[in-house]
Amino acid sequence: MAADETPPFRVVVLVSGDGSTLQALLDACSDPAYGVLVVAVGADRDGILALKRAESAGVPTFVSRPAEFDSRDDWDRAFAALVAEHRPDLVVSAGFMRLVGSDFLDRFGGRFINTHPALLPAFPGMHGARDALAHGVKVTGATVFLVDEGVDTGPVLAQRAVEVHDTDDESSLHERIKQVERAMLVDVVGRMAHAGWTVTGRKVTIP
Ligand code: GRF
Repeated sequence: MAADETPPFRVVVLVSGDGSTLQALLDACSDPAYGVLVVAVGADRDGILALKRAESAGVPTFVSRPAEFDSRDDWDRAFAALVAEHRPDLVVSAGFMRLVGSDFLDRFGGRFINTHPALLPAFPGMHGARDALAHGVKVTGATVFLVDEGVDTGPVLAQRAVEVHDTDDESSLHERIKQVERAMLVDVVGRMAHAGWTVTGRKVTIP
């Protein structure tokens, strides 16, 4: 197959909110040289801007609400199946606010990345920017990592630092982190698409 006919690297993006991170990926994909195609966007809830962004870009979407299932395991299994329908090479959590379970990780572990607005292992969880501000650190940042069975505990792919300003509140700090985070995620996904990656213990290498 000629080089220019290499099939694009298929990515499913998972969202729960505004989708500015998703938008950065969608914008990057508009350049054929990036070599990545967002084949679907999945969410755990309706009525979010991220789904509108996907629809505006002509990207298929799906929503699966945990409350509609008898158990978290049932939702996890169903959600994993919905993602699998799109045959992703990589699954990217971009502001997705759900913890996946063993079914999902059995299917996508090792090719499921998340982005977090802090320098893990510092300040894991739902409020990375708020916790960093409350702790009084002078430098925080963003982390892209492979999702494992823990909460923001997986092997790190990339990190970038962001200075905390004395005048920062949670919103201003998180927004500045998100600018760095979006650029880092676009860079990491592009490099994974072109060069692949290896995982040895906690060390992830993109050649
Ligand atoms: C990002 O900072 C992400 O790390 C965090 O939530 C934010 C998502 O923002 N989990 P958006 O929905 O992509 O705008």
